[in-house]
Amino acid sequence: MKTNIQDKGKLVNSVFSEVHSKYDLMNDIMSLGVHRIWKNKFIDWMNPQPNTTLIDVASGTGDIAKLFIKKSKNTSKIVCVEPNTKMLKQGQNKLSKYRNVRWINSHAEKIPVHDDTFDYYSISYGIRNVSNINFALKEAFRVLKPGGRFMCLEFSKIDNEILNFFYKQYSKTIPYIGKIIVGDNKPYKYLIDSIERFYNAKELSEFLKKSGFSNVEYRTLSNGISAIHSGWKI
Ligand SMILES: C[S@@+](CC[C@H](N)C(=O)[O-])C[C@H]1O[C@@H](n2cnc3c(N)ncnc32)[C@H](O)[C@@H]1O
Repeated sequence: MKTNIQDKGKLVNSVFSEVHSKYDLMNDIMSLGVHRIWKNKFIDWMNPQPNTTLIDVASGTGDIAKLFIKKSKNTSKIVCVEPNTKMLKQGQNKLSKYRNVRWINSHAEKIPVHDDTFDYYSISYGIRNVSNINFALKEAFRVLKPGGRFMCLEFSKIDNEILNFFYKQYSKTIPYIGKIIVGDNKPYKYLIDSIERFYNAKELSEFLKKSGFSNVEYRTLSNGISAIHSGWKI
């Protein structure tokens, strides 16, 4: 078990080291820009209030932090947590003009911050990549203030068979696009496999409940290609 977890960590780290400079471009190409709509829907549902605090885990290039800043009219304090140093650098550069963002080079499973600190916890397309989902959710619960909100955006499962068929056909082309843009198809084979192996929205809800979150709800996006989960630390 331990070896599997270590192997996954190493694999994921190598994937993001390889794609870091083309990460944003590939997101736009692969999703035809739709990831921007999903991320906006995520922030709309989160509905951040002014003068609040966010911990954005698996921040990557900082898209969620940026949207949170805008939505809360730059009155909030944000901590971005990212284990891959190359992705972290991309994010730091992208958000360099914001003084209210601090970056921590760490994993979701063990975050060096105090208990009961944040109003919001976000993880966007990150939970599928963590090595231990239970540890990550336990940490999310720990770092949120009582009354704080957990939100996750992640790929999910399409429930319509015909749509699923076409989505699968499209997915097969992604590694070829990766080869052209990034120069390697392996990171994108990992992406497709990891989406295939990941939980459906109901299963993910159960993980949240088991980790202590209350009022767990989810909304599907684009017929279940992605889903947003919300839970509260009460
Ligand atoms: C698909 S990117 C998502 C980036 C960004 N949140 C977004 O929505 O565009 C996933 C990120 O998760 C990070 N990651 C991988 N394993 C992690 C872990 N155990 N804890 C936290 N982040 C992790 C990767 O380095 C990568 O930057």
